[in-house]
Amino acid sequence: MMFAYEKHLPPVLQIPDLIIKEGEYTALIGPNGCGKTTLIRHFNALLLPSAGGVWIDDLNTREARNLVEIRRRVGMIFQNPDNQIVGMSVEEDVAFGPGNLGLPSAEVGRRVKEALAMVGLTGLETQPPYTLSGGQKQLLALAGLLAMDPKFIILDEPTSSLDPAARQKVLSLLQNLRQQGIGIVHITHDMDEASRADRVLVLDQGKLAADGSPAAILTRVEWLKALGLAPTQVTELMWKLRQRGETMATNILALDEAVNEISGLLERLRASSNGGLPGKAGRSV
Ligand SMILES: Nc1ncnc2c1ncn2[C@@H]1O[C@H](COP(=O)(O)OP(=O)(O)O)[C@@H](O)[C@H]1O
Ligand SMILES: [Mg+2]
Repeated sequence: MMFAYEKHLPPVLQIPDLIIKEGEYTALIGPNGCGKTTLIRHFNALLLPSAGGVWIDDLNTREARNLVEIRRRVGMIFQNPDNQIVGMSVEEDVAFGPGNLGLPSAEVGRRVKEALAMVGLTGLETQPPYTLSGGQKQLLALAGLLAMDPKFIILDEPTSSLDPAARQKVLSLLQNLRQQGIGIVHITHDMDEASRADRVLVLDQGKLAADGSPAAILTRVEWLKALGLAPTQVTELMWKLRQRGETMATNILALDEAVNEISGLLERLRASSNGGLPGKAGRSV
């Protein structure tokens, strides 16, 4: 797939064939301006490729008659939750999408209730959305998508304006949704967030620079830094210890794995310093 904003401009994206699966959590990372937002805007036909094609299951995004169904299947969440509010109350906001599908009102009501429960906003039905916190607004936007019964949810830096507690809520909700079989595509600058995914795609200057597991990609410390991405503190610590000549596993992302690895290192150091004591060595000869 290829995309240029204007015919006379060089293409912003040149992406080989790529399949994104339902029930898979894909993190999309890359430096500012590499084309992440442009790419995901193709996933629900906000943009159409200049060459090649994008399909949601068997639906080509180029065909206008597929548009409504594509946008039902692929929900999109953007960075700023304020731009995504459409209703005068929480309930009305979530009901907007399913209401437009022409569903019976009892079914809309059922979906609204279920979606609010999924994101943890039950009890706030009659609140005007502007009274919600930034995190709650992002959860409200997610509830609006969930009420559409989507197959995929695409999120463009959804946590960048949230406080740590709200961020954790959104991240754990994404894990739940993945477990329920929804495909997640999550654009992020935070490698800790990316490490929660099943698969990591790296874009650089509109090209796919890497595609693999978080452990395979997020541990390439020097490479990530050269791209302008900040590795996680855990991976950076492991890397610094290796730089100092310590033998550390190269695929460590999680904090508890790092703790095990460092415990192993400490044991080796203790053993070698005991063995290396002149007195002891002398006695053992
Ligand atoms: N509406 C637009 N018109 C022309 N160029 C654009 C437009 N939006 C983005 N670009 C350019 O396309 C490239 C990719 O941008 P974008 O997809 O926003 O990257 P990212 O989301 O990775 O930061 C950048 O060079 C950007 O300047
Ligand atoms: Mg962007």
